[in-house]
Amino acid sequence: MTPPKTWSDRFETALHPAIARFNASIRFDIELIEYDLTGSVAHAKMLGQTGIIPADEATQLVAGLEQIRREYRAGEFQPGIEAEDVHFAVERRLTEIVGAVGKKLHTARSRNDQVGTDIRLYLRDQIDTIRVQLRQFQQVFLDLAAQHIETLIPGYTHLQRAQPLSLAHHLMAYVQMTQRDWQRLGDLRQRVNISPLGCGALAGTTFPIDREFTAKELGFAGIYANSLDGVSDRDFAIEFLSAASLIMVHLSRLSEEVILWASQEFSFVTLKDNCSTGSSIMPQKKNPDIPELVRGKTGRVCGHLQALLVLMKGLPLAYNKDLQEDKEAIFDTVKTVQACLEAMTILFAEGLDFCSDRLAQAVAEDFSNATDVADYLVTKGVPFREAYNLVGKVVKTSLAAGKLLKDLTLAEWQALHPAFEADIYLAIAPRQVVAARNSAGGTGFEPVRQAIAAMQAELRSD
Ligand code: ARG
Repeated sequence: MTPPKTWSDRFETALHPAIARFNASIRFDIELIEYDLTGSVAHAKMLGQTGIIPADEATQLVAGLEQIRREYRAGEFQPGIEAEDVHFAVERRLTEIVGAVGKKLHTARSRNDQVGTDIRLYLRDQIDTIRVQLRQFQQVFLDLAAQHIETLIPGYTHLQRAQPLSLAHHLMAYVQMTQRDWQRLGDLRQRVNISPLGCGALAGTTFPIDREFTAKELGFAGIYANSLDGVSDRDFAIEFLSAASLIMVHLSRLSEEVILWASQEFSFVTLKDNCSTGSSIMPQKKNPDIPELVRGKTGRVCGHLQALLVLMKGLPLAYNKDLQEDKEAIFDTVKTVQACLEAMTILFAEGLDFCSDRLAQAVAEDFSNATDVADYLVTKGVPFREAYNLVGKVVKTSLAAGKLLKDLTLAEWQALHPAFEADIYLAIAPRQVVAARNSAGGTGFEPVRQAIAAMQAELRSD
């Protein structure tokens, strides 16, 4: 069967079937249908309000559009390839439902401002969902942090043991990272929330439309000031993909840490059965598939950002069909970020345990208190660089003797420098090493308590 002609009578034949398939976006832009209906309802009301069409016809259009919404939700409206895209699919079905008046819906509008409206409404909703998810993630981390203020964990630079930390401090770093994610989404949401509806194909329209009316109906904070910009702008989408990429980068770094921590070499966490997987051949294994998948999916999202940047860079104003390619990148990013945030939140809420004994042992068995020996000497009046060099020597001789710093006798300490006294043992005990780092934003128990309280207050104030 030859598909029906979509276009005006200028066209004599329908598209070649393979080209029709190539050109169509209905397979994926059906995702926008609820937003398309909402945008069309606002447009139809505006047409009636301004007298561009009679008020009773506008009422019929709105009723027809709401019927399509019900049909779609009931699974009864499943447009196929012949509709080309979601916008045509809705207009066709509307005309079936309400008759010839349906053909008036597209007065003073183009699919260019229509699709721009749909994608912004969609993204605005998804941003709100992701921000709620970020808050849930932060709440889980805050609760964990509150339980682990005095749990110590080795801190690393270059993946070499550096200085011990409060586990809460480590967890709170992710709360700060996701706080910036939350803020970034809130900021870019303002640029998503501008209405292009009424920009027409590119130049505006000859009809006396009321753009402020539709913007208000749809909850937009304002309207695009330039019609060309309105239909061809995808900056807001790139900003979203960029913010989404950063969220994924944060989750990916966290994933990498969990993967390391769950290894036998670290053994800082154990994965519970509800969040780990087995091997099909090695029965002893418990694999960290969840963080590995999150880490893996990060590449996809960063790829979508790159794809949209490259898509845009050569486009002349205004609309070009290339822009149809923005959708799969945006939809896949939204789904991926939402799924990964959910999975990581569950993983930390109920899928892993920190191994307190192993952590306590880990911080006691290394030289990560070496800086504190130098700091100790500084408090006794030795210049830092001199103290630093001396402690380097201490570490070297201790290593040669197979000892840790805590195992050196007071005589050995004093042989290295006369300023050492018996209180050196307290100064280098891991708990004291952490507790003493009380500078603002440091890992000391006091600043960590304050940081947790400040974020708890921040979350309550939403
Ligand atoms: N399906 C199209 C898209 O997603 C809708 C806009 C088409 N506009 C046009 N002038 N061909 O971008």
